[in-house]
Amino acid sequence: MAFTAADSARCRADFPALSRTHAGQPLAYLDGPAGTQVPQHVIDTIANAYSRYNANTHGQFPTSNDVDAAMERTRAVLADFLGVAGGSCISLGANMTTLNYALSHAVERTLKPGDEVVVTELDHEANRAPWMRLANAGFVVREIKLNPDGRLDEADMRAKIGPRTRLVAIGYSSNALGTVNDVELARELTRKVGAWLSVDAVHYAPHFVMDVAGLDPDFFLCSAYKFYGPHIGILYTRPGLLETLPTDRLPAQEPVAPYRIETGTLNHPAMEGAAAAVEYIASFGSGATLRQRVVDAVSSIGAYEHGLAAHYHAEVGRIPGVRVWGTDFSTRRRAPTVSITIEGRTPFEVATTLGREGICVWDGDFYAVKPIEVLGLTARGGVLRTGVSMYTQAADVERLLGALRRIAA
Ligand SMILES: Cc1ncc(COP(=O)(O)O)c(C=O)c1O
Repeated sequence: MAFTAADSARCRADFPALSRTHAGQPLAYLDGPAGTQVPQHVIDTIANAYSRYNANTHGQFPTSNDVDAAMERTRAVLADFLGVAGGSCISLGANMTTLNYALSHAVERTLKPGDEVVVTELDHEANRAPWMRLANAGFVVREIKLNPDGRLDEADMRAKIGPRTRLVAIGYSSNALGTVNDVELARELTRKVGAWLSVDAVHYAPHFVMDVAGLDPDFFLCSAYKFYGPHIGILYTRPGLLETLPTDRLPAQEPVAPYRIETGTLNHPAMEGAAAAVEYIASFGSGATLRQRVVDAVSSIGAYEHGLAAHYHAEVGRIPGVRVWGTDFSTRRRAPTVSITIEGRTPFEVATTLGREGICVWDGDFYAVKPIEVLGLTARGGVLRTGVSMYTQAADVERLLGALRRIAA
């Protein structure tokens, strides 16, 4: 089933926030890489959980039983979204960053002197800082180089992953440049040396079909607020692995997967909302199973977004004074996220002007501190980032292009 411009226009009615206006015009939400809007189905699911069964888990009474069932179902739905069998490998937490710190603390306790971990120069700080921290504990941290074209240096990846490597933390897609990394190669290289592979799929998850079983990483993280859900984080761990990790947890806590790394009482209604976001996305696909509908919907929504972003990428690059960063759109393996700079204007100034007109775009580094530094853009205030989501219209893109032409002139 193709997701067309008409489907995109229609789906807007499902998102209450899209009706908000500013200065007499609808807001143009081009800020998806920092978080998407939420459909009514997600809002209703969360409201229903609070209204009908607000209780803690594992009690002997109906509302608690309902929460237990809802959480089990939530993990199963998220497993379908990621493309893995069963929810018992899906741990949940406050957000990706918090889960990744918990993971890095657990992994740290398994390391021996001389062990190495590898991160990349392209990643968001959430997938760097928790691992860079290990350098202070005496371990070696290596960084895979980012080339000026916005791609990771393949030869450097091959050189940095070696016999002492214990874990490689790599992003699937860059939230600053939209690059999709060769995580399949990282898997091949880590497997050769017996190292763990941890993939940050936060920027990848909203735009591409995730086939986690096919990739077979050891750890895989994403965040529901980037795919039309609430603010929660998701951690997949390869079956059998979490049980071997010395995680931070209360002695009384369940020591098995997926609970072993989940501390405290979780935000159960929000987590149900994350599953509702997956159901909402899947409603645009066809197939007998939820997984089939997810695959169908995500691939067609991704193709729609790619087309719109490719158009923006081509047109914005024609504006005199604009420099477009990162790779082009000749491949489908490119997230619909485009970053630019405009000569003589800081990204902050441009974003502020656009914001006054109700065009929501981000300026700065978006915690992708290192790639912005490597590209020499830190002192210039980073970049101006535009993201395309399922509800983005060609008219939103034209409105942005018009405003940028005016600003650049
Ligand atoms: C690529 C990437 N990784 C990690 C994160 C951190 O996610 P969270 O806000 O869930 O901690 C973000 C957030 O913007 C991101 O874009």
